Amino acid sequence: MRLRGWRLGLLAVLVVALAAPAAVWAQGRLSGELEIFSWWAGDEGPALEALIDRYEQLYPGVKVINATVTGGSGVNAKAVLKTRMLGGDPPDTFQVHAGQELIGTWVLANRMEDLGFLYDQEGWQKVLPQQLIDLLSTDKGIWSVPVNIHRSNVLWYIPDNLKKWGVSVPKTWDEFLQIAAKLQAQGVVPLSLGENWTANHLWENVAIAVLGPQKWQALWDGRLAWTSPEVLKAWETFGKVLQYTNRDAASLSWQQATDMVVHGEAAFNVMGDWAAGYMSTTLGLEAGKGFGWAASPGTSGIFVMLSDSFGLPVGSPNREATLAWLEMLGSREAQDIFNPLKGSISPRLDSDLSKYNTYGRSAAQDWRNSTIVGSLAHGVVANERFMNDFATVMEIFLSTRDPQAAANAAQAVAAQAGIGVR
Ligand code: GAL
Repeated sequence: MRLRGWRLGLLAVLVVALAAPAAVWAQGRLSGELEIFSWWAGDEGPALEALIDRYEQLYPGVKVINATVTGGSGVNAKAVLKTRMLGGDPPDTFQVHAGQELIGTWVLANRMEDLGFLYDQEGWQKVLPQQLIDLLSTDKGIWSVPVNIHRSNVLWYIPDNLKKWGVSVPKTWDEFLQIAAKLQAQGVVPLSLGENWTANHLWENVAIAVLGPQKWQALWDGRLAWTSPEVLKAWETFGKVLQYTNRDAASLSWQQATDMVVHGEAAFNVMGDWAAGYMSTTLGLEAGKGFGWAASPGTSGIFVMLSDSFGLPVGSPNREATLAWLEMLGSREAQDIFNPLKGSISPRLDSDLSKYNTYGRSAAQDWRNSTIVGSLAHGVVANERFMNDFATVMEIFLSTRDPQAAANAAQAVAAQAGIGVR
């Protein structure tokens, strides 16, 4: 069958429109609202706000709705998102961690659109690390656009305060336990802690120190049981460390736990490097002088990673404006606007490190030279179902301090969430 001229023309237009949606938004015809859903509210907001400013310059016809639900690590936002997604009311785009939070939750439920065409169009396969693309992909597509790499396993402190108290930075948890007594004797909380999810965050870093990278991975592949002696040891060590944390932890946000260090009430805090963003961007402290950092005890040479990304949910009301947002997010320019403010680094291999402070530059170097493992508390290694149930396991441990009870409960929730049978 031969196609007549006008049909061929129409076909060509259709093919171009489908293959290169950028052509549509490049003409400045975008309008309507764009709802960007995340948990980057308040103190966590400046980096996202800078990105939104840039988008509004590029696409003045679009009204951005910065829809945030406050609460570190998305504890509250993810619950709201779930209700909306299941109720058929998705935002245009939402924050989601690379790894199982994305793949084992939303992609598995067929709620996301494949963005492989955008990756082809923008050449992102060539500028993003393969191991990150793997965390965003299945054999059916690539499902979101990463905006950063955060590091989970960082120990924060104020150099002048450590000098004053006569202690140095502990390299292992055993060293920490020795230092802790000395700090307590001076009325200083050795390690500040916040609400439940920050206990998960601390737990993952203690567990990685005890297990090492290979056994940590084995836990997620089902090659190491949650009730094995090694994992019990991790709970035991965690229990000892908890003895040196503040009693009001459950009522503190991660920022308030950071504040305890900044104000000299506590010596150390283990938190992701959004704490660097908070201390430099919000509190105005100078990286290296105003605050110091080291790998969380026992994890030197290891980079516990996580990545915030945004995707295109099925049924996104303003698909075109969302694609323009996603295209911008993946660009070198946008990433180097966002990450220096956020405390994270750009995953792009061509990132301009001159825009980052000394913390960001050291993180970029560590990212290249370390053994990389995925975070549990921030969605890389386990899906949402496991994370929700693990919060309950943590509650059990925090109230009983019984390693065996926690190990048994974790084994049960891992089986229910299909951990180890992927
Ligand atoms: C993480 C997220 C970070 C930061 C942190 C604290 O899950 O990836 O970007 O927002 O929570 O809320």
